[in-house]
Amino acid sequence: MINQQPSQRQTPYNVRVELGPRSYDIYIEDDCTARACAFVRNDYAGKSIFVIADQAVNSLCADAVVAALKPDFDKVELYSVPSGEASKSVDMYGDILQWLACQGARRDSLIIAIGGGVIGDLAGFIAASYMRGVDFIQIPTTLLAQVDSSVGGKTAINIAAGKNLVGAFYQPKAVFCSSSILKSLPTREMRSGYAEIYKYGLLWDADFMVWLHDNAARLLAHEADAVHYAVQRCCEIKAEIVAQDERESGLRALLNLGHTFAHVLETLCGYDDRLRHGEAVSIGMCLAADLSEKLGFIDSEDALTVSRHLKSLSMPTSYGDIANRPKTSVDEMIALMYRDKKASAQGITFIVLERLGKAACHSNISENMLRDVLERFIENA
Ligand SMILES: NC(=O)c1ccc[n+]([C@@H]2O[C@H](COP(=O)([O-])OP(=O)(O)OC[C@H]3O[C@@H](n4cnc5c(N)ncnc54)[C@H](O)[C@@H]3O)[C@@H](O)[C@H]2O)c1
Repeated sequence: MINQQPSQRQTPYNVRVELGPRSYDIYIEDDCTARACAFVRNDYAGKSIFVIADQAVNSLCADAVVAALKPDFDKVELYSVPSGEASKSVDMYGDILQWLACQGARRDSLIIAIGGGVIGDLAGFIAASYMRGVDFIQIPTTLLAQVDSSVGGKTAINIAAGKNLVGAFYQPKAVFCSSSILKSLPTREMRSGYAEIYKYGLLWDADFMVWLHDNAARLLAHEADAVHYAVQRCCEIKAEIVAQDERESGLRALLNLGHTFAHVLETLCGYDDRLRHGEAVSIGMCLAADLSEKLGFIDSEDALTVSRHLKSLSMPTSYGDIANRPKTSVDEMIALMYRDKKASAQGITFIVLERLGKAACHSNISENMLRDVLERFIENA
């Protein structure tokens, strides 16, 4: 796919995810609400509509979607989900399935997910499993959800044994990303989403990475052209990767750059408020860069480029940046890596940077080298 510069691009910034009969479009513009409602009226006339929304976005978006659709449909119902990761639970999943059944939802009904990654993952898994699958569309309302979780069809809920352990690959019928809705996001959530954006530049597109070095501050300040271009470029990269490897048997694993380390840190913090997912990814990418340097792929200046950039945006880059960080050891961190669901019988696969803008999977990394990287990480806190 040709990476056109932002000035050559046309609005709305659509991206197509090519998956044969499961292909769909991602729409990116200031406010997609009217476009989303027109899509529903056009494709689901005469059907019943079930909106599953984060309660934090009811007044920002969900109420408007329901009000706009009500005149044209016999049944438009809204389920408001309490904000937060705790809602990605078996209990909430069961409650909403029960609600759908009581409301008379059928195989040809449509589910509309409105919220961040929590709602997208939860509502997506509900759509995948209710009556063995009903259509759903995504209206992502966080930066992280617009650039990552709403695209590609991974859906999941958490169980006591671990995060995202139950789920399905299930693609939405369309994704509608409004840049204006991000304006109410707390700065911390914007930064958390930014970590995933920078990840795409590092793993796939050096030109995009350089553009981010120059434009990240504008993006985080909600300048529309910067937000639109960044969301579009991330969706293009994810679409390109997912089109080649929908179920993560190879290439798609590159999207986990920094995530093996991030999951360890999130587990150590108990997935609580000390560390948002994107913050863990920010630190994880710095560790992946350190490991890549140790392996001789990139030099120390490249590794520093990554951490300096993230630091310049006040993102966490080291163990010491985690407030009230838990005590840990190299042994504990390595043990947690082996427990990660992405570890296989062959061991842990790391995503390393062969250069800035190109990642690759490596599974035969010596434990001594890993220990060196982790020792330095813990000692420098
Ligand atoms: N499926 C995937 O491919 C994938 C990829 C990455 C992450 N995830 C999942 O995504 C989840 C994290 O997503 P997230 O970071 O969007 O978290 P989130 O859904 O919890 O949203 C973050 C916070 O922002 C609030 N919020 C949402 N939209 C808002 C808005 N427009 N204005 C103000 N507040 C708003 C929410 O209420 C919440 O408090 C995790 O569960 C993670 O596992 C999934």
